[in-house]
Amino acid sequence: MRLLISNIKQLHGVETGEGRSRAAGKDMAVLPSVENAWVLAENGLIHSFGDMASMPENQADEYIDASGKMVLPAWCDSHTHLVFAAPRDGEFVDRIKGLSYEEVARRGGGILNSARRLNEMDESELYDQSLERLHRVMAQGTGAIEIKSGYGLCQEGELKMLRVIRKLKENGGIPVKASFLAAHAYPVEYKQDKEGYIKLIIEKMMPVVAGEGLADYIDVFCEEGFFGIPETERLLEAGYKFGLKPKIHANQLHFSGGVQVGVKHNALSVDHLECVAEAEIESLKTSTTMPTLLPGAAFFLGMHYQPARKIIDAGLPVSLATDYNPGSCPSGNISLLLTIACTQLKMTPEEAVNAVTLNGAAAMELEHQMGTIKVGKRANLILTKKIPSLAYLPYDYGNNNIERLIF
Ligand code: NIG
Ligand code: FE
Repeated sequence: MRLLISNIKQLHGVETGEGRSRAAGKDMAVLPSVENAWVLAENGLIHSFGDMASMPENQADEYIDASGKMVLPAWCDSHTHLVFAAPRDGEFVDRIKGLSYEEVARRGGGILNSARRLNEMDESELYDQSLERLHRVMAQGTGAIEIKSGYGLCQEGELKMLRVIRKLKENGGIPVKASFLAAHAYPVEYKQDKEGYIKLIIEKMMPVVAGEGLADYIDVFCEEGFFGIPETERLLEAGYKFGLKPKIHANQLHFSGGVQVGVKHNALSVDHLECVAEAEIESLKTSTTMPTLLPGAAFFLGMHYQPARKIIDAGLPVSLATDYNPGSCPSGNISLLLTIACTQLKMTPEEAVNAVTLNGAAAMELEHQMGTIKVGKRANLILTKKIPSLAYLPYDYGNNNIERLIF
């Protein structure tokens, strides 16, 4: 099957030659593009591209005329909790009335609320709901995604979530990565026996998760009131023994030391980073750990934003992801994320696009197949509606300018 897209107003994120495995520092502002372009996909891979003067004739089985439209690499959303059973709109109202996210959690709401609902739902219903959500974010341009467990908080529930994610991998049609996040919160029955829950995760759950190949990564909510540094270290070390690389929640609510612990354990990424200062930046500079910012959660919880400029200006890469989940960010819409990144984090549209394409791919170890338009990579592409510029995507916020995802 050969698909030729022609008359593309601008083809963004192209790469020739070696290409980059990530974009960092000043290089984040570099988003190479071709004006008035074509791209040819063959059997789902990028075969060739160029400007219209060089377009091959009669080469394809299917044609798209993209006059006035842009083509970009598909969004790579490297941090989501897309598998969940129920919304938490009641807590949303509680927070409007003055409760904080942490207070909601301390009352047994938050993650524990989601865990109750998830454990009541059977696997097939959970799968159907999750597939619907996956299809919705794909229609909004997401062409690769990471999904976490973490609303089971018991062996049965965690395995149920991971099996749902595996089915999404098999049937979703785009790359899906799975992270094992049993260390998301202490379940009620272990409130007085935290050691017991850590042991349950390491000794009982991990062998099954790894044995059945249900996860690619291990995640921990490293945070005051959740999992501290010693617990995080034990979980990450155990994860390595089972072949699970870390991708952790760090520095969302406090300066918890999560970034440093992630770097120390060679995490693929440290995610959230609302609370980041010089020490965290210096630590990141010594590593290849990807700083992944989740400003959709800061937006929805009314928290201060991540210091993206400081991180980029220190020469580091930044990846952006949605954190799509029912508590802190009930949206998987990357167009909206781009708007928040540009308006609140002061990232330029080019930096923000690199952060949700190439760097998002790198935060899922997909940089060799996704994230840029490069010969041989997957032809998971975004076709926009007719728009005047790349900046129009974050500018025209709340409106959908994605015509379709090609995958
Ligand atoms: O990334 N912070 C921890 N976990 C999720 C939220 C989970 C929830 O509230 O359900 C996050 O924000
Ligand atoms: Fe998260």
